[in-house]
Amino acid sequence: MRRVALIGFMGAGKTTVGRALASRLHWDFCDLDEVIEQREDQSIAQIFAACGEAGFRRIESATLRDLLQDNPAVGDLVLALGGGAFVQAENRAALEQAGAITILLEAPVEELRRRCTDEQKVRPLAREQERFNQLYAARRADYERAQLRVQTLNKAVEHVAAEIEQLLKAAKAEVKK
Ligand code: S3P
Repeated sequence: MRRVALIGFMGAGKTTVGRALASRLHWDFCDLDEVIEQREDQSIAQIFAACGEAGFRRIESATLRDLLQDNPAVGDLVLALGGGAFVQAENRAALEQAGAITILLEAPVEELRRRCTDEQKVRPLAREQERFNQLYAARRADYERAQLRVQTLNKAVEHVAAEIEQLLKAAKAEVKK
């Protein structure tokens, strides 16, 4: 089973691009936060309020491990991770062990902030601009560990998905050489 994981900060477009990419590739799509919300029957904001960030991270890691396990009911999978998932070393290890290709969606922090403010989604870690900027700076080094990267600024979702498709084809050709 092939796995592609989209990573990046809040507002990077992991979910929208992930859906578009999955439909181009005819693969399944899964959004880690959505699976967590369904399983826990609570929103991400409610989980943060009830269990704190540490509690959320535990649930996030356990859910990611489940999704990465071989499952005959699931085909090749595009997986959109939450913005903090790839920052956790154990999650990076689980992705590597599963052979997932990791792709970073990039955008300048001002643009990420703008997208988050425009969206309805409640993000507990995006409430204050100062904290948002600090988190972005603190996470950049970990995001750099992704295998591939795509700039998303001023690009339509389909355009980004098409670029990723090309990158994946090139990566596959490289592996076959
Ligand atoms: C988080 C990002 C959110 C969600 C949670 C924590 C983070 O996902 O997982 O609020 O730590 O960056 P998105 O990146 O999809 O907003």
